[in-house]
Order: sequence, then C-alpha cells, then structure tokens
Amino acid sequence: MAEKNLDFDQIIDRKNTDSVKYDFAVQKGMPEDVLPFWVADMDFRVSSYIQEAVVRQAEHGIYGYSESKEDYFEAVQKWMKIHHNWDVEESWLVKTPGIVFAAAMAIKAFTEKGDSILIQQPVYYPFGALIRGNGRKIADNTLLLDKNGKYRIDIDGFEKLIKDNNVRLFILCNPHNPTGRVFTAEELTQMGDICLKYGVTVFSDEIHFDFVHKGKHNVFASVKDEYKDISIVCTSPSKTFNIAGLQVSNIFIPNSRLRQRFCSEIEAAGCGHINAAGLAACKAAYTDGEEWYEAMLAYVQSNIAYIGDFIKNNIPKLKVMETEGTYLVWIDFRGLGIDDKKIDDLVINNARLWFDSGAIFGKPGEGFQRINAACPRALLRTALERLEKAVNTLNM
Ligand SMILES: Cc1ncc(COP(=O)(O)O)c(C=O)c1O
Repeated sequence: MAEKNLDFDQIIDRKNTDSVKYDFAVQKGMPEDVLPFWVADMDFRVSSYIQEAVVRQAEHGIYGYSESKEDYFEAVQKWMKIHHNWDVEESWLVKTPGIVFAAAMAIKAFTEKGDSILIQQPVYYPFGALIRGNGRKIADNTLLLDKNGKYRIDIDGFEKLIKDNNVRLFILCNPHNPTGRVFTAEELTQMGDICLKYGVTVFSDEIHFDFVHKGKHNVFASVKDEYKDISIVCTSPSKTFNIAGLQVSNIFIPNSRLRQRFCSEIEAAGCGHINAAGLAACKAAYTDGEEWYEAMLAYVQSNIAYIGDFIKNNIPKLKVMETEGTYLVWIDFRGLGIDDKKIDDLVINNARLWFDSGAIFGKPGEGFQRINAACPRALLRTALERLEKAVNTLNM
C-alpha cells in the first residue's frame, strides 16, 4: 500500500461538511462569501493511511466505548523518539479529547479560584478565556518585540510576575502561536529554572511541535532532568495530521503526583473515554504517516515562503514576521497607519478574507493579523491578490 493523498494543490470543496472554518461565516458575524484563513486546520486531505483506518472502523458498524492498546502507545512512543528525541514511558500518558480541554483540567488541578496564571501574550486566545472562565487571573508576561522584529521573552518580567503574584501555573506555548517563535533551549532553560525555583507547574502546549522551519524543537520536559517533575507536556497528532475533529491528544506527565491530580480532575469532569476514530487515526498517523507528513511539511514551508515574498514585493507596508514554527503566519499591519477596527474592515469587508484579528490574542496583538498557510497555493494566491487590491484602495 502506498500513500495516495499527496496532491496538496488540489482544492477540495469543504462547504457543507459542517466545517467550522467554511460553514459558519454568517453565524460568526462574517460576510457569506469570505475566504477563510483563520482557524488552525488544513485544507488538505489526510494521509490515505488515516483515511483507510477510519473507513475500516466505520465499516465495522459498531461504535462502542473504546480504549487504546500497546500498539497505540508504541506508535506514539516511536514518533516522540524519532521526531523529538524524547523517550516517553507508558505510565506518563494521559489521553484527552484535545489540548484546550487538558488546559482547563490543569487550571482546575493546579490552581485555586482567584490565583494568577502566567501566559505570554500575544498568545493562543483560549488560554486567557479558560483562565478567566475558571475564575483565575491572567498574569501576562508580554513578549517583547525587538528592533529586528523578533519576539523575545522578558525574563526579568517573568520572574517578577511569578514572585509578585504567587503564580503556581505557567502555560507555555512552544512553538508559539501566533508569533511563530520556536523557543531555544536557552530560553526554555531560563524560564524552566525560574519555574523550578518558585515551584511553578508548567503546562507546555507543544501541539505545533512537528512544524519547525528554523532551529529545533525541544520538548520542555527533556531540556533538564528536573523539569520532568514540573511538566505537563501536551502533544497531539491533530495539527500535524489534520485530524482536529477527531479529538485525541496525548498528554505526558512524568511526575506521578501531578498526574494523579490531573487525572482526578478529568474524572470529576466525567470524561472517561476517548473517541474511537481518534485513536485509530492517531495510530495510523504515527505508524504510516511519515511520507505524507514530510511532503505536507515541505508544501507548507513553500507556502510560508510564498506569503513572505508576495508581501515583500507587492504589499511592502505589511511586514511578515519570521515563522520559525507552526503553519500560522503573523503579519504586522501597523505600517498602514490605521487602527485595528479599520484593519479588520479592510480584510473582511474589502478583501473578503477571514483572518484571525491580532487583538484576540491579547492587547499586544493589536495591529497584527494571523493567517493559516496550510492550504492549496492557489487559494493563498487569491487571498494575497485580494489583500493587495484592498490595501491599494487606501491610497486612492
Ligand atoms: C497552541 C494551540 N493549542 C491548542 C490548540 C487546539 O487544541 P485542541 O484542538 O487539541 O483542543 C491549538 C489550535 O489551534 C493551538 O494552536
């Protein structure tokens, strides 16, 4: 059997598939005809091995409660070893229906109402929503944008926030969505040592770890042996293999005390089983998805380069931030000299495009827009041409 789904140029009609990205524009306040580049799923058909595994399961016709067996763990373990040079043990693994759910459980397990939780904005917006929604407070150590256009960690601010607010939990996002940073081992060590010093648990969301275009991804818990005891490492095949709708993620918690607390919250939430199709898809992805993954990654990387070149050559007032990791491109619109509302209006109502507006990632995201590069090149070309035309109307 050979991989069949390698045509990433193919435009697949996703309308009328109950797709959050394609079928809910009007409900979400957008014009009906916007072209969507917001939510982080891909417009590519999954590996044929995944598709066949799910079809095989569907054909059986009975969809009862399911659990994974050793072959599932072995597939996950192998992926972690080969791609991330990380040796995981079976006892560390807790499967959850997604990483956002896991973040909610960690917030409940490791903090009390009224506690402060550290995040670094601009950052994936559900973190802030979960912190607020669970009656906790956001301690934001805003990332610093240096004069070369690179986001850096304010390490003094990081320590001060933890000390001053008695922070017990830090939600790390690495590779970082939306800025595209892949934190270096040195940066992770700076943060990790402070967390060790103050007894802070690190919820390390590494969902984008298979998309690294520059530098190297370091699993947080593997940077120093001591970090294993404070880490909740969140991984998933969902971004890498485009199976977010199947809701399976693999959370590794080496420390048994942390793991027990985390699992107690999951139990209290009444979540006892994992999606059967998700388990089958994850196993197939990590066992046979390598060829698809490599081809997809190369395609996404050429899309990211295409966006950079197009904007530099045709819309020079915008600035594309370097995408070290993820398939999400963070673009600085501040050079247009218009406020956020006008930027949104330009993108949505003039260009008829649906990006993620920077402000949703926190105030430090204002003036930026995030676009998803995991789609056929022709769609990107259309989007960028529409954007160029819309920006040109500003000068008329
Ligand atoms: C950083 C980050 N974490 C988590 C998620 C979503 O995770 P899940 O669908 O597993 O809840 C996303 C999706 O875009 C993400 O970018």
